[in-house]
Amino acid sequence: MVTIFLLVFLCVSCIFLLSWKSRRVNALLPPGPTPLPILGNILQLDQGSQLKTFTKMSEVYGPVFTVYLGMQRIVVLYGYDTVREALVDHAEAFGGRGQFPAFSRFLNERGIAFSNGERWKQIRRFTLTTLRDFGMGKRSIEEKIQEEALCLVEELNKTQGDPFDPTLPISQAVANIICSILFGKRFEYNDGQFLMLRKLMTERILLGNIPKTVVKLYNLFPGIMDMIPGMHYKMAKSSLKIVDFINERIKINMASLDTSAPQNYIECFLAKMEQEKHNPSSEFSTKNLNMTIFNILFAGIETVSVTLRYGLLFLLKYPQIQEKVHKEIDVVIGQGRSPTVKDRNQMPYTEAVLNEIQRMADVVPMNLPHLVTQDTHFKGYVIPKGTYVYPVLNSVHYDKQHHANPEEFDPGRFLDSNGCLKKVEAFMPFSAGKRACIGEGLARMELFLVFTTILQRFTLTSPVPPEKINIAPASRNIMSIPEQYQLSVVPRQ
Ligand code: HEM
Ligand SMILES: *[C@@H]1O[C@H](CO)[C@@H](O)[C@H](O)[C@H]1NC(C)=O
Repeated sequence: MVTIFLLVFLCVSCIFLLSWKSRRVNALLPPGPTPLPILGNILQLDQGSQLKTFTKMSEVYGPVFTVYLGMQRIVVLYGYDTVREALVDHAEAFGGRGQFPAFSRFLNERGIAFSNGERWKQIRRFTLTTLRDFGMGKRSIEEKIQEEALCLVEELNKTQGDPFDPTLPISQAVANIICSILFGKRFEYNDGQFLMLRKLMTERILLGNIPKTVVKLYNLFPGIMDMIPGMHYKMAKSSLKIVDFINERIKINMASLDTSAPQNYIECFLAKMEQEKHNPSSEFSTKNLNMTIFNILFAGIETVSVTLRYGLLFLLKYPQIQEKVHKEIDVVIGQGRSPTVKDRNQMPYTEAVLNEIQRMADVVPMNLPHLVTQDTHFKGYVIPKGTYVYPVLNSVHYDKQHHANPEEFDPGRFLDSNGCLKKVEAFMPFSAGKRACIGEGLARMELFLVFTTILQRFTLTSPVPPEKINIAPASRNIMSIPEQYQLSVVPRQ
């Protein structure tokens, strides 16, 4: 098999070599390291961290530069001013979506997160309004989150003060919130199907037992890798199981559907499908429904879980900040009722802590790949239509021009001298512009309600002393992931 691979690789290399010259013509491209044919700049990639490579290159080439990952030309945007100018001031041009071949090849550009054009527009608009609609189902999204937060607290309380790794219960709670919105169903924390889904999803994110090098090669040379027998299937295997799981849920909802009173996202989508069935340009199909749900499961579970995990870790590291949050909760909410969204207005300190958690955690450090939808004049350069663009969010959240001591956890940067919440420009965990996260409202509601419900009930302590706690990310690829850690929860009186 290795020989076949090498042969194919060589042949394709020759073909590309011949056509290479014509690809490297545009003199108005942003500067960047000279690419090799076929390989592009991959030899200059820092082992393991594309972000590190980008950061180093930005120091040499400035805030806008061109880099080739294999054959793929990528323009990288660095620093708040540049990222904002592209995503906000040139929103239309920078509003396309590029692909991660290893992730999205099998998606066929269906769904929402990796689609473009008319399909993306229809599904995005629909999903945004559906998520905003508090009338979906019998209970509001807020109530669903409150209920799940209480289940989580109960689950945490079972540890009886012993140290534990919070990863699993947190992600189960967050997954349940998404599942109840999408499917109208929450799962018990020990439900077999649910645990399987979670395993598949983390497999999908880490690509499980597929060696990292293979994933990297796949992302760099998707065309070539697809020629290897069995490769495409291997990459897609765990995804296909998730697709089956989703189809199962769609069938269940179809059977009980009342189009006049849809109870969850699937039912809303099916109702829309019915309503649009005579419209030939409608993108509302079961295939797009399945992929959209697939996208939302991935976009909506790990992001929120990881943010919460970082958040609890920061509070273990800084007990005096935890104490201030406790105080604010005691004053505004007390012990007698669940936190509500309304409380946010009266809790600037907690809001500042949550913002600072999101800034420091920087969970999607490189952003998702964008694509310019037209030849685009930007800062004196011309970026040809179809070029991938990375508006690097890490460079916004750690921008020295906009944040004093960006490496320091300091909720105070989000507060003015009166202790009121202050607008901070260089803060865009959900990105900005046409492609910005559609889950921002939901995610912020989840973060606030879950975080305050936990802290209303518990004091968090660490088995290791705060000064020994490492808050630096364990890895920073598509997502930033914190080190594994243990904590204990002690009921508050
Ligand atoms: C703390 C939590 C979250 C963070 C930090 C986050 C961050 C992001 C970022 C950076 C993007 C890429 C934006 C861009 O391309 O410019 C994105 C896209 C997206 N997010 Fe989120 N997200 C979070 C939670 C959620 C949730 C809860 C949902 C569920 C509805 C969601 C659904 C999506 C979708 C569907 C997209 C693709 C949008 C498109 O391509 O048009 N996200 N998110
Ligand atoms: C935790 O469990 C104990 C009983 O085991 C109960 O008395 C207490 O109220 C629970 N605390 C919380 C915060 O749920």
